[in-house]
Amino acid sequence: MSRNGLVTASAAIVLALSAVDRAPAQDAVKIGLILPMTGQQASTGRQIDAAVRLYVQQNGANVAGKKVEVILKDDGAVPDNTKRLAQELIVNDKVAFIAGFGVTPAALAAAPLATQAKVPEVIMAAGTSIITERSPYIVRTSFTLPQSSVIIADWAVKNGIRKVVSIVSDYAPGIDSETSFKERFTAAGGQLVEAIRVPFQNPDFAPFLQRARDAQPDAIFVFVPSGQGGAFVKQFAERGLDKAGIKLIGPGDVTDDDLLNGMGDAVIGAVTAHLYSAAHPSDINKAFVAAFKKANAGMRPNFMAVGGYDGMHLIYAALKKTNGATEGDALVGAMKGMAWESPRGPISIDPETRDIVQNIYVRKVEKVGNELYNVEFATFEAVKDPAKAAKK
Ligand code: PHB
Repeated sequence: MSRNGLVTASAAIVLALSAVDRAPAQDAVKIGLILPMTGQQASTGRQIDAAVRLYVQQNGANVAGKKVEVILKDDGAVPDNTKRLAQELIVNDKVAFIAGFGVTPAALAAAPLATQAKVPEVIMAAGTSIITERSPYIVRTSFTLPQSSVIIADWAVKNGIRKVVSIVSDYAPGIDSETSFKERFTAAGGQLVEAIRVPFQNPDFAPFLQRARDAQPDAIFVFVPSGQGGAFVKQFAERGLDKAGIKLIGPGDVTDDDLLNGMGDAVIGAVTAHLYSAAHPSDINKAFVAAFKKANAGMRPNFMAVGGYDGMHLIYAALKKTNGATEGDALVGAMKGMAWESPRGPISIDPETRDIVQNIYVRKVEKVGNELYNVEFATFEAVKDPAKAAKK
């Protein structure tokens, strides 16, 4: 069968089953959780899986009279795997939700299946703006790269940074961060002297950092996906960029809480804009961090973990609102406009775009006691995805 034939045939299977009731009254409500548990993005899988388990442990496995069952599948962040697993979960396991999605290509690969089967797709990690536009069944609890990139652009201009080199991972979220930073920064008079893109797979940052250093910028704007920040900062220091007085700025993926403590003193002073810091000073977050560490041998939760935790909250709250009904349109309808207090601060789901609205914090890496933290010092409230706002 040709590739197109295969796609059509598999779509037909999903279509045929889309009308079947996915959860007869007494049955479990199943959540298909697709995450990279192995490979380069495995830290994202580990964080989200831990957060999902914590949420269920804290809130019980029964919602609206139904038992919740999470089925975890490892896609290794490979979109062909994501698609196959999403299809199996929908057709064979009859899940009421697909959730997770550690990288943008994985989230996009599942989108047509969500549409055909009318199954809500809860994005807990991936951050490219367009994802939510790819299916009316997609709802996001993570973030978009433009949300934080425009805010760090504003901060840079206000703080005397005039000349920047950007270094981004060469795939969709990297392009999103580069584009939104560049637009905002240059419109305010800043100069982006070079826009460098590095391979997504196993990047060697050294030659790119050398090029960046040679351009003598005030700062380097960087986006690398969660999990790559440690290697980036190590090479930043090895190439002497910190000693040369070049600042490190960007969205907060690079100073990921999961790896931050191992990055060493070269990262102190890095200023990033992001949705979450483990040091966020709310009572809810203090309790979340303590419970997460207790359940996971001291592991510190990062921004991916809160995306997973909040994704579970959204699923539970939607089921409560539908009284346990699992029809996809009803669930997505219930999710639209939902608002609650997350460990990251107040958040809501934009009823028009199904994307997350959240505070973005400007933070600086500091040593607190013996540990490194992203210490928040400015808050921008209820930020919508600027890339979508710009299209209107
Ligand atoms: C993505 O692939 O969308 C992605 C992954 C990791 C990040 C941000 C975005 O830290």
